[in-house]
Amino acid sequence: MINEKMVIVSFRELVMNRKSIRKFKNDPISREIIEDAVTIAQKAPTSCSGQQYSFIWVKDSDKKKRLAEICSKLILKAPELMVPCVDVRRLERFVDMAGAKLKEGPLTALIIGYTDAVLAAAYFMLALDSHGIGSCCLGSFQSKAKQVADILELPPGVLPIFGIVFGYPDESPPTRPRIPVNLVLHENTYQEPTEQEIREGIEFMNDRLKEEGYYVKYAGRDPSYGWNDHLVNKWGGEWLRDVEKEFIESFKELGFFPKNSR
Ligand SMILES: Cc1cc2nc3c(=O)[nH]c(=O)nc-3n(C[C@H](O)[C@H](O)[C@H](O)COP(=O)(O)O)c2cc1C
Repeated sequence: MINEKMVIVSFRELVMNRKSIRKFKNDPISREIIEDAVTIAQKAPTSCSGQQYSFIWVKDSDKKKRLAEICSKLILKAPELMVPCVDVRRLERFVDMAGAKLKEGPLTALIIGYTDAVLAAAYFMLALDSHGIGSCCLGSFQSKAKQVADILELPPGVLPIFGIVFGYPDESPPTRPRIPVNLVLHENTYQEPTEQEIREGIEFMNDRLKEEGYYVKYAGRDPSYGWNDHLVNKWGGEWLRDVEKEFIESFKELGFFPKNSR
């Protein structure tokens, strides 16, 4: 069933065709496929080979229901849910076994662990795609990390980074646009985009997302709603101040943020 050669040959196509999927068929995913996807996730590079992450495959319907209440209703519409986590706990046990005490401070664990976990999660989602399985990240798990950790009964040192809902797609949307590569790729130093480039970037994103009817379809917005409105509401929105507070509280309570800061 798993044909590695085929996956490698079509890697470029796989990545270029990837998109978030938010409508799923009911079919569950076999353990074999999930293990394969996690094995591929483990191929991601990790800081000092520490491999500071774990994946929690949430199968329990009561836990899913409780997570859906605080994070996203999408959880109840998807057959599967995976929660990649920073895992300092297991690293500490390895270090103990090797005869030392873990010296990683909370912020270091947060930054290094998050980096490891995010890279692995990205590989995991691409691996799912290679099996024809669509997925979508759920960011609300991030600032609600403490509540998520409580529901999943996670031990100290294990921090959820986001949720990933996944399943066989029941929609085939187009790939979503990205700003032009010249705004992202810089040479030797940072090149400030011109106002014209910023304006054109917004127009490009607007045109493509409106073509799909993206915000109409997924957010029930008016057809005139564009990426410019999204920037204002999301990245210019007051809600982010609450998110900031939730992050700090969550991370402090889970021991990933120095308790006496802020
Ligand atoms: C950390 C993170 C959190 C996200 N959270 C959500 C979410 O809560 N709900 C959702 O529908 N999509 C979510 N997304 C998906 C993004 O909206 C999506 O990746 C982006 O619009 C680009 O579209 P594409 O993935 O189809 O290329 C999230 C993506 C990331 C990386």
